Amino acid sequence: MIITIDGPASAGKGTLAKEISSTYGFAYFDTGMVYRAVGLEMFLSGKDISSEQEAEKVAQNLSFQKMMSLSKHPEFRGPLGGKNASIVSAYPKVRAALLKMQQDFALSPVLADGSKASGVVYDGRDTGTIVCPNADIKLFITASPEVRAERRYKEFQSRGINQSYEEVLKEIKARDERDMTRSSAPLKPAPDAIIIDTSNLSIEEVQKKVNKIIAEH
Ligand code: DC
Repeated sequence: MIITIDGPASAGKGTLAKEISSTYGFAYFDTGMVYRAVGLEMFLSGKDISSEQEAEKVAQNLSFQKMMSLSKHPEFRGPLGGKNASIVSAYPKVRAALLKMQQDFALSPVLADGSKASGVVYDGRDTGTIVCPNADIKLFITASPEVRAERRYKEFQSRGINQSYEEVLKEIKARDERDMTRSSAPLKPAPDAIIIDTSNLSIEEVQKKVNKIIAEH
């Protein structure tokens, strides 16, 4: 079974995807990691982030192992990692270079310990539209920019990252703008996606809704 979860930054996709994968024993692919890995590698190797050609080369040479190793860097999930990921993800050549690696994961999905899984949960922006257009269940999880900024601000605080709520909100809005207006794979729900607005829902309420959708399927 393939389940895709798309939506804007900090809408709660990751929490939900991890919960579904552990409940059903499915593998989990956080596809934002491929863009974070390319963006961070560009930064660490001193490449010009505004060069699509350079970013394409980095993307072509990215392996799953390399991505996992870059994910341990402190900036991978920090503000710099998010910004660079958003920039390189707007390059069509980078998206094209990273597509097969993401699609291949569903052919033989594995859990973190390397054992085989009977299903996979993808989380990202285009997983229901481009990566897995034939997914069994497509979810689009969203929330207002203010609610998402509040969540990300709290997450940063708990990780000791110093950024004001206003700065976080500004970045969320800028990221939404870039993700939704880019020419290649703009953020939008697949026509057959189920849209869930989590602005006024607890994590438990969202999970309950989604468990029902999966059970019905
Ligand atoms: O979900 P995230 O914050 O880790 O994503 C980082 C960036 O990568 C974000 O700006 C959008 C982009 N992204 C994308 O374009 N397509 C995906 N499937 C996943 C993430």
